[in-house]
Amino acid sequence: DFSRQLVSDEIIQALVNVARNRGVETAWSHMRSGGLVNTTENRAVGHIALRCHDDETFMIGGRNVVADVQATLANMSELAQGIRLGTVTGSTGKKIRTVVNIGIGGSDLGPALMFEALQSFSSTAITCRFVSNVDPSDLVQQLEGLDPAETLVIIVSKTFTTSETLANATAAQAWLSNELGVAGSMQHLVAVSANVDAVVAFGSPASQFFPMWDWVGGRFSVGSAVGLAAMIALGPDIFRQFLEGQHEMDVHASASFDATNAPLVMALIGLWNRNVLGYSTRAVIPYAYDLRGFPSYLQQLIMESNGKGVRADGEVVSYPTTAVVWGGVGTDAQHAFMQFLHQSPDVVPVDFLGFDQSSTGDHERQTMLFMNLIAQAEALAHGRHVPDAPHRSFVGNRPSTVIAAPTLTPRVLGQIVALYEHAVFFEGVILGINSFDQWGVELGKELASALLESPQGISPQDFSTGLIAEMNSGSRHLLDWFHRHSVQNLPSSKRLGADF
Ligand code: F6P
Repeated sequence: DFSRQLVSDEIIQALVNVARNRGVETAWSHMRSGGLVNTTENRAVGHIALRCHDDETFMIGGRNVVADVQATLANMSELAQGIRLGTVTGSTGKKIRTVVNIGIGGSDLGPALMFEALQSFSSTAITCRFVSNVDPSDLVQQLEGLDPAETLVIIVSKTFTTSETLANATAAQAWLSNELGVAGSMQHLVAVSANVDAVVAFGSPASQFFPMWDWVGGRFSVGSAVGLAAMIALGPDIFRQFLEGQHEMDVHASASFDATNAPLVMALIGLWNRNVLGYSTRAVIPYAYDLRGFPSYLQQLIMESNGKGVRADGEVVSYPTTAVVWGGVGTDAQHAFMQFLHQSPDVVPVDFLGFDQSSTGDHERQTMLFMNLIAQAEALAHGRHVPDAPHRSFVGNRPSTVIAAPTLTPRVLGQIVALYEHAVFFEGVILGINSFDQWGVELGKELASALLESPQGISPQDFSTGLIAEMNSGSRHLLDWFHRHSVQNLPSSKRLGADF
């Protein structure tokens, strides 16, 4: 429901014409035919292949990758079913009860979203925990109370070079082998990656390896083997229904590039709000506790994709490329930041998501929940003038979109995820940027590893300007402080190495 956005039919039509002139249809065909859309990494962009039916083709580099996708899905399903039925057990013969997913960014947010959102559809007691942060507290808390003999650890990293993931994987492997021995621990380790050599070098068994491909971006990868943890907990059938929902949106998005195309309209409204009306942030508020992971998921999908400073042709951009995405779940959000959305001079367009029925079957509170969603959208749109009481008045005219479905089923979740994926793609095409690289995360990674390798700090000669040299001397000071006060001052029970 785009009716509360600040656009008329004429504006939408004009924006559709802009999209046409910017070549969205050609860009879609280029992506769909395996073109090297991700130009700075010289890669195709093939996440649509992850949900193609087995009689469809998606050619990349002269190969129909749908066959590879289907073979991997079959292998994932076999492992998932084996674990769910208890025919695949841990090294001591005990059933696997918990799957711990170790990964970060796209190797964490997608499977975590899917598991949390669809947990009520699971027919077994198998549960998932997700470890992403290199902060040792994350792993320690997620392993709390688990029996290694009943735990499967899935290390998910497309590159298998991500330092946070490898550090956590090493610690988790030590936790497993402490209890099960090195050989036993191997039975509890699975790896998902596009870099099989690094998996083998890490010591993870090659027989328990699931591939992903360089033509699937991390933030677009939930339907690949990256989703294995969720598949084990929810079952292959639920996973396939999610893929089918994505496929339905793929079909919709490619049918016609006009005002009937939901992701295209969503992209155009996003551009209108950011680049024409100048609204610099955008809130996402699911009125569904099961979608509590969605704002974080969208932060990566949208901001890592379209937060770019140069165009695909190498020119520095002279316009904003995306809004800052933030949010939280309703109704909690109403008691936290909604005051700002209603009365702050800053206007924040909102995406509301809501459902007619709750997975719990409780209709009464679900009705309360949905009425609150409608109330917020209406209050933002229409406001209220209270004479002589400006503090109680609402200016209104604040834009929002409502995405509603009868229930949050696996198919609906797949449709919603693909809706946003395609909106990101269309926005990127119209802005003329490459939505599929993420070079902006590299500098921080490099500095962190340089600092780890040289505890005295990085030499100012490594930097080219006085300003940065000054910042460096500041960070040296902080380094001195850190090294003086770190590990030796911690109680031993809090040291990772002391535990495992
Ligand atoms: O943040 C950069 C990034 O490369 C993301 O794009 C990606 O999802 C995440 O790191 C994790 O990468 P990997 O799966 O290679 O460990």
